Amino acid sequence: MSGIDTPAPHYDPYDYRHHDNPYPDYKRLRDQAPVFHNSKFDFYALSRYEDCFRAVRDFRTFSSAQGSNLENINIEVATILDSDPPVHTRLRHIIVDLFTPDSVASLEESVRDMAIDLLRPHASTGSIDVITDFAARLPMSIICRLLGFPRDDEDMLRGWTDAAVHRNEGEFGVPAEGHAAMGKLIEYFERDIARRATLPPRHDVIARLLSAEGEGRLSHGELMGFMLILSVAGNETTTKLLGNMMFQLHRHPDQRAVLLAEPSLLPSAVEETMRFDGPTQMMARTVTRDVELHGTTIPEGKKVALIFTSANRDERKYVDAESYDIRRNPRDHLGFGGGLHSCVGAALARLEARVAMQEMLALMPDFVVDETRLDRMHSPNVRGFTTVPVSFTPNPGYRA
Ligand code: HEM
Repeated sequence: MSGIDTPAPHYDPYDYRHHDNPYPDYKRLRDQAPVFHNSKFDFYALSRYEDCFRAVRDFRTFSSAQGSNLENINIEVATILDSDPPVHTRLRHIIVDLFTPDSVASLEESVRDMAIDLLRPHASTGSIDVITDFAARLPMSIICRLLGFPRDDEDMLRGWTDAAVHRNEGEFGVPAEGHAAMGKLIEYFERDIARRATLPPRHDVIARLLSAEGEGRLSHGELMGFMLILSVAGNETTTKLLGNMMFQLHRHPDQRAVLLAEPSLLPSAVEETMRFDGPTQMMARTVTRDVELHGTTIPEGKKVALIFTSANRDERKYVDAESYDIRRNPRDHLGFGGGLHSCVGAALARLEARVAMQEMLALMPDFVVDETRLDRMHSPNVRGFTTVPVSFTPNPGYRA
């Protein structure tokens, strides 16, 4: 075969067609252009596991300080994601022990109660939209509880966080609506902090951050940055993971059968979904010097996309990497990043995913996704559905 019909390696995360199924693009990048230059938007992309693994550990060369998105986002707050040591080290110390597996374990019961409350109204109907009725609500409710935001504000906050990550087709940069939404979030956070001053002291995450600010360990901009990142990072990604996992179990009935027969495989199935179809496709860095890799030079100052979900399907790293195997338990995937900026909320996300999936499978083991009504969100970083309508045998006895 001459290969004449094979498309050339290409990567454009602003092309909506790429969002439908980016994995063939990723494979061509890994095999033929492991250092790819997107000349339209003038950025580079790394797609192999080994290269992404090294880059996230080398902040001196692959810096986050100019932002962890491909676009330069002009907001007046400083987030932990967009920092290098020593600033990053200080910020990470303030937050990291709030989200350790031990710290989040106590949330399991309330996560389960919330999940059951959201699912139960649909038990007798035999249909639910996994995203809009459930997966978009659960993580937001949990993060609002952790941050101490009123329940009535959840829908409004979710609307703004959705708008903050959406990108318009073919357009490089944050649309005006996205900037406006981030502005509204910041205004909301400022109001929330002002309101606290009039209320009895609390012991939530924000209270902890406020005391760090009071002790001079955190600037006001950094406090806002934390509120922003915790609201957005903890929300969209977990929602999308649940939708992606239901979709993969629907597409792989053999794997669903294995999971139903052996529920103890659920944590492994969550890891495999993170590897196989994780919500965070890529994060960006800026190179601080010319970098020579696989015969290509990335010039100093250029943005580089680290495509974690391509790395996670690298056949140089995983055997049979393009197959979904819930027994694999790949704890070293890059779905939560790696190295310095590895996800602070990973233990919470894993807990939420395990409990949410347990409850969804208990309610509707025979669910069928209506593929004709699936819809995707469009973001260069986050992959997942905005709607996943499913039907199932009504189960009025569910947690009755
Ligand atoms: C960082 C993914 C859930 C908070 C990251 C990074 C990834 C990621 C890939 C690394 C970014 C980089 O290297 O530039 C995910 C996914 C989640 C999830 C896929 C759900 C399935 C959460 C939750 C929270 C959270 C629930 C908070 C409660 C953070 C924070 C960082 C981060 C604060 C920044 C860490 C740092 O810069 O040191 N996440 N995340 N994430 N995540 Fe998550």
